[in-house]
Amino acid sequence: MTMQLLLGQTLGFSGNPLTGDWADAVQFDSTGGVLIDGGQIIDVGNGPALQAAHPQAQVTDYGDALISAGFVDAHMHYPQTGMIASWGKQLIDWLNTYTFPEESRFGDKAYADDVAGSTLDLALAHGTTTLTSFCTIHPESVDAFFEAAAARNMAVIAGKTCMDRNAPDTLIDTAQTAYDDSKALLEKWHGQGRAQYAITPRFSPTSTPDQLAALGALWAEHPDCLMQTHLSEQHPEIAWVKELFPDARDYLDTYEAFGLLGERGLYGHAIHLDPREIARLAEVGAAVVHCPTSNTFIGSGLFDVMGLAKSAVSIGLATDTGGGSSFSMLRTMAAAYEIGQLRGVALHPAQLMWLATEGSADALKMSGQIGHLGVGAMADITVLDLQSTDAIAQRSARAEGIWDALFPTIMMGDDRAVRDVWIAGTRQV
Ligand code: GUN
Ligand code: ZN
Repeated sequence: MTMQLLLGQTLGFSGNPLTGDWADAVQFDSTGGVLIDGGQIIDVGNGPALQAAHPQAQVTDYGDALISAGFVDAHMHYPQTGMIASWGKQLIDWLNTYTFPEESRFGDKAYADDVAGSTLDLALAHGTTTLTSFCTIHPESVDAFFEAAAARNMAVIAGKTCMDRNAPDTLIDTAQTAYDDSKALLEKWHGQGRAQYAITPRFSPTSTPDQLAALGALWAEHPDCLMQTHLSEQHPEIAWVKELFPDARDYLDTYEAFGLLGERGLYGHAIHLDPREIARLAEVGAAVVHCPTSNTFIGSGLFDVMGLAKSAVSIGLATDTGGGSSFSMLRTMAAAYEIGQLRGVALHPAQLMWLATEGSADALKMSGQIGHLGVGAMADITVLDLQSTDAIAQRSARAEGIWDALFPTIMMGDDRAVRDVWIAGTRQV
């Protein structure tokens, strides 16, 4: 494979800009270079110096475009792509009205193939190089997603979404079939190429204690897998969990009691947490996933990025398609900024970019492998045009410094800002 050298403005991170001074965590070079060989980043540094040292490398010069690690979407539902932006409902009604009928279609492998392929292509067009997806109850939906990702050589995480109550018959399994199907899919896909399996109980209202226990047992047998679910998204949901699990100390306890709390646990939303829940998440090293466009779209609430970061809880960022209203991690960063403002906190562009790359990778326990513009990481890279529309260009033209130039693209950018995407050192066209 030919060595590749990408030239442009480069942005990477050497630390977490949420927990210390953001400036100490940033590695920015206005004339940077990223050297790629064998699908991996083998050097990041001054562009002209790298070019002089590696005259044989094939050069792609992006001028003043920004070279970043590819975006990592740490929580989404690919089967909901077709019903994104469905009007007028909050969580439980939204699930019953729009989500469950659409998810019922994914036993049809051809349909699942079609939506999986188009979702991954949409993600790539928006600069997202890794997706962490819920599938549906149907094993076909899991095969479809992993097959489509393998065809694109994308690092993805996904699992069969298990439900054995409070859902239509078309989407119901049992404790035993949830265990058996998940185990078979895990054995088939986990560690195949760039695929990882995540054990996936949807959320405690749609699983009986028996099903949660069965999936907890499966996780104990395969502790190298991630486990993904939802936690404390909306008040009526939390009240329902209290009714269904009267003995639980809190929502997190409905997972903890059945072996579904652990370091490789990923808890989507996590907005309305009690102090015990925050302390336990931090203690076990689990991650929560911020889904800001979903939280405003479905009317869920204001996630506390800074409070959770201060409590040492790992935080990823995600679209939550199709509860989220955008495929774009730029729009997702903008929504995280807006929610921060509503809580009285202005997240810095460095913190937003970190969440969309390194933060999500950390939540997925893949730090240094993806979401990282540094030596040894896979060369999954997104190149951003910082003047992609007239509206953005007129603002960035008067920018003073990289953050002022980047912030309009974070706030106003979309797929038009994505100049190029590289997957494992191969440019996507
Ligand atoms: N809680 C349980 N299932 C879902 C889902 O599909 N989307 C969102 N946003 N929340 C959920
Ligand atoms: Zn979700």
